[in-house]
Amino acid sequence: MKLRNIGVIGAGAMGSGIAQVSAVAGYNVVLQDVYSDALLRARVSIEKSLSKLVSKEKMAKADMDAALDRIQFTTALKDACKDADLVIEAVFENLELKHNMFRKLEELCKKEAILGTNTSALPITEIASVTNCGDKIIGIHL
Ligand SMILES: NC(=O)c1ccc[n+]([C@@H]2O[C@H](COP(=O)([O-])OP(=O)(O)OC[C@H]3O[C@@H](n4cnc5c(N)ncnc54)[C@H](O)[C@@H]3O)[C@@H](O)[C@H]2O)c1
Repeated sequence: MKLRNIGVIGAGAMGSGIAQVSAVAGYNVVLQDVYSDALLRARVSIEKSLSKLVSKEKMAKADMDAALDRIQFTTALKDACKDADLVIEAVFENLELKHNMFRKLEELCKKEAILGTNTSALPITEIASVTNCGDKIIGIHL
């Protein structure tokens, strides 16, 4: 499977950074959060971070604009899942929340999608245990 589309779940410190590096790397990104103000903060933070690179001449303005164009922001989980080849979950570090999230991801994502968790400390097998797709669930600690 060719990796083109990445869904990032949770637009906090990690999710916004993951969305930024993924878009700069050329992937189409849908960044999702339950809170629209978190999405707004993420957009501002990504723009600020890329602008710094442009002002230091480490990135061309056109590349910054192209990267920003590749990121969609949404509160609808299904929009982050429907075309995703890879989903990276970066919600709060809470096992019950991650269990609920992975149940939904299993339901909403295509069968071949890889589901990653950015957890710092929770066991990946424990997170995956509530799904029937444990072979598709990976740890992506960045
Ligand atoms: N080096 C690393 O890889 C690293 C570093 C720090 C944190 N982490 C892990 O990454 C994850 C996120 O950490 P963070 O520091 O970005 O947290 P954060 O508190 O900055 O952001 C979490 C975001 O998740 C959102 N969220 C909560 N419930 C949600 C839901 N049901 N659906 C969608 N979004 C939801 C919140 O609104 C918030 O914006 C945690 O699991 C944390 O342990 C990894």
